[in-house]
Parts: sequence; C-alpha cells; structure tokens
Amino acid sequence: MNRLKEFLESTQKKTFLDIGTGTGNFIHQITSMYEEYESFIGIDTSARLIEMATKHTPNDKVSFIEMDAYDMTFPDNHFDVVCLSNSLHHLSNIPQMFQAMKRVLKEDGYILIQEMIKDQLSEMQQSHKLMHHFAARIDRLSGDTHYETFTEQEIIDILGSQEGLSIDQEWILDVPRHKENSKEELDYIYNILERVMSRVPEDHQEEFIKEKEQVKQYIEKHGYDGCPSVFAVLKKQ
Ligand SMILES: C[S@@+](CC[C@H](N)C(=O)[O-])C[C@H]1O[C@@H](n2cnc3c(N)ncnc32)[C@H](O)[C@@H]1O
Repeated sequence: MNRLKEFLESTQKKTFLDIGTGTGNFIHQITSMYEEYESFIGIDTSARLIEMATKHTPNDKVSFIEMDAYDMTFPDNHFDVVCLSNSLHHLSNIPQMFQAMKRVLKEDGYILIQEMIKDQLSEMQQSHKLMHHFAARIDRLSGDTHYETFTEQEIIDILGSQEGLSIDQEWILDVPRHKENSKEELDYIYNILERVMSRVPEDHQEEFIKEKEQVKQYIEKHGYDGCPSVFAVLKKQ
C-alpha cells in the first residue's frame, strides 16, 4: 500500500489544513486516497490561486481561504493535521512558519511535509530541476520568495531543527518513473518553459534566452521526468 495512504488510515485524523495550497494539488492528492477527513482548509496568499482552487474543487468538505500563514487567524490547537507541500523553498522565514504551524496544531496532531528534492535524480529528472531553478531565478527577479530546491539531507536537517517539533517518520515518495516522453508531453513542457520565459523583464531577456535554450537542449537530449519528493511527518515534542 502507498505509504502516505497507510499513514493517513492509521491516524484516522479528521481536520486538515494545507498551507501554501496554490490550486489545491496536495488536497486533491490526499482526499483521493483518504476519505475519513471531516474538513480540509487550504490557505494561500494569492487571491488568484484561491479562486482557481475553489473553482476546481466541488467538494463540501473542502474550502479555500486567502490568508498569510505567518499570520493565521485560526485558534491555537485547532487542526489534527497541518500540511505543507512543495512550499518550503518558497518561505522567507522557515522557523517562523513552523512555529505558526505548531500553534494551530493539536497536541496529538501531525505536520505533513512534501517537498521535491534536488539530489538522487535520474538524467530525466534533472530536467525538472533545471526548469525549476530557471523559473525560481526569474521569480526572484520580480521580488518573489522562490529559492532553489533542497537535497533530502538539507530538508531533514531543516525539519529536525524546528523548536518543539520532532520528525516521526520520513521517506522518499515513490513515484512511477517515465521511460520516455510522448510528443504531447514534451510539447506541454516546452510550452511551460515559454510561459516562464514570458515573465522575464526586458533588460534580462538576452541572459535568460541563452539559459532557456540550454534547458531546452538538455530536455531534448535526456527527456523529462518529475523530481522525487521527500515526505515527512512531524509531531509536537
Ligand atoms: C509551489 S506552490 C505549492 C502549491 C501546492 N502546495 C502544491 O504542492 O502544488 C507554493 C505556494 O505557497 C504560497 N505561499 C508562499 N508564502 C505563503 C504564506 N506566507 N502564506 C500562505 N501561502 C504562501 C504561494 O503563494 C504558492 O502558491
């Protein structure tokens, strides 16, 4: 059985919060494998993403709220499970975020972390990393907090050093690997690359066009696959 599903079923937890939910990907991932939840709230600072998430999630038990996770209005000890997926490398202050998550978590609750990693990659997965780091550098030009992703060990070190929390379990999420890409898949990836490129300010175009071509050439040569993720469960100490 999928380890995440096994974990969720063993806990039988009911109230969930997803921080930095974006369009609700992680909520969809969890609710597709675990039905015993009573409520799932997704929060994000982006009103546009909250609107999209709400539109794409016709589920009475799931709701989305525009809210800054550093300044949540939920009471103390409120949720059974607090999730953070692929957002660690978007945080301006990681310790402050974990203290905010800890505050709204019940004493016997769990923090679930999913985060893509930049080590242990196949040649195909290197394409995802290259594209991600390319996009992150462009986002930083516009003042967004978007860093490179971490190695598995860096993530474990970060999680293991948060005050009042301890790692209960950790594993690499086992995603089925592609052997080769279809033309449609590659066209989709190249399309994303062009969309990312369209965010580059005029005075940086030359430098980024060169880098975009290098990323594209790498993908043409090696193909494209998603990076694996670390999955970790934290508890209050
Ligand atoms: C890469 S996305 C992850 C989306 C989703 N969790 C997933 O796994 O696909 C990171 C999200 O974190 C959000 N975010 C960053 N800082 C935040 C904060 N302080 N409070 C709430 N959301 C935040 C961003 O707006 C962005 O939507």
